[in-house]
Amino acid sequence: MFTKVYYINEDDLDKIKEAADVVKNGGTVVFPTETVYGLGANALDDVACEKIFTAKGRPQDNPLIVHVADFDISRYVKYIPENARRLMEAFWPGPLTIIMPKSSLIPESVTAGLDSVGIRMPSNRIARKLIEYSGVPIAAPSANISGKPSPTTIEHCIDDLTGRVDMIIGGDKCDVGLESTVVDTTEETVTILRPGFITKEMLEEVVGEVIIDPAIMKRLEGDIKPKAPGMKYRHYAPKAPLVIVKGSFDDTRDYINNKTRELEEKGFKVGVLAADESIGEYISKYKISIGSRRSLGIIAANLFDCLREFDKIDIDYIYSEGFEEDGLGLAIMNRLKKAAGYNIHEID
Ligand code: TXA
Ligand code: MG
Repeated sequence: MFTKVYYINEDDLDKIKEAADVVKNGGTVVFPTETVYGLGANALDDVACEKIFTAKGRPQDNPLIVHVADFDISRYVKYIPENARRLMEAFWPGPLTIIMPKSSLIPESVTAGLDSVGIRMPSNRIARKLIEYSGVPIAAPSANISGKPSPTTIEHCIDDLTGRVDMIIGGDKCDVGLESTVVDTTEETVTILRPGFITKEMLEEVVGEVIIDPAIMKRLEGDIKPKAPGMKYRHYAPKAPLVIVKGSFDDTRDYINNKTRELEEKGFKVGVLAADESIGEYISKYKISIGSRRSLGIIAANLFDCLREFDKIDIDYIYSEGFEEDGLGLAIMNRLKKAAGYNIHEID
């Protein structure tokens, strides 16, 4: 399949209309959002949505998020729960996906047979115009090959999906850099199924108590199943094994530097992911700074790109510092732990 690539900004209306025509005709378009790039198709077209799964190599049991450009979502849901209504008003357009009971208009392939649907109104202007011009909601997972780190630049999408989709549009790096927060509003208390830029604290200001799905921060064992099917897969993974090292700064540095020395002597390339404040302390030749600990927003925006950088330089082992798990740190550590396959070395 030939993939058209357009570097555009939000004023290139002709190109966005051309992309909308591809969606209308049942094709696939990669487009930017404020979180990560999405791989979109007409959410009301079963056959078009199947193409998304094929292009990504995505497991069939993992439902897609439906992206809309306005608040009138009544055709896609059975009803709008009161908590959902409040969250829409507070956080849309923006990085929040709200799970609601689905209507029969949404095909099975989108929701993977579940009776609920996840809906989100992105704030990115190219995304919103594309949806508007298409005249239909757009189903879109992150535009990466399944299992790889999510794409935060157009180059990540070109690397993964050239030859697998009809069109790729965009250019700018995604502002947020982590996928949307996913919340379930089908039960009385709102539950976070995937942490993101909209934190528990922000949600609680709008709907009172919020629960975090206990399955999302640890390795899955026995019968524990996350409520968002996608959260059970090993995700975001760089090619090399990644270990998160947690402990005092001195202990972390000593442990990582010892490992680096040991493995380099055996001829391996060892990568280190660390904050600006401490990067200078590591002896690795392949160290990448993820940003300052004083700005978790920047760390979130850089995370996936850093993981992909290690792939590019063919690293054999990666060691990463850990981050505090409150506020936005919860989402950062959720992605980092999954990338590490929950391989965490704790030093007391
Ligand atoms: O920021 C984002 O959400 C990006 C951009 C493109 O909008 N999209 C994205 O989609 O991250 P995806 O498919 O990579 O992740 C969707 C997540 C998966 O974990 C999926 O299992 C969950 O949302 N999900 C979708 N619909 C659901 C439903 N009805 N019930 C439970 N979980 C659902
Ligand atoms: Mg994804």
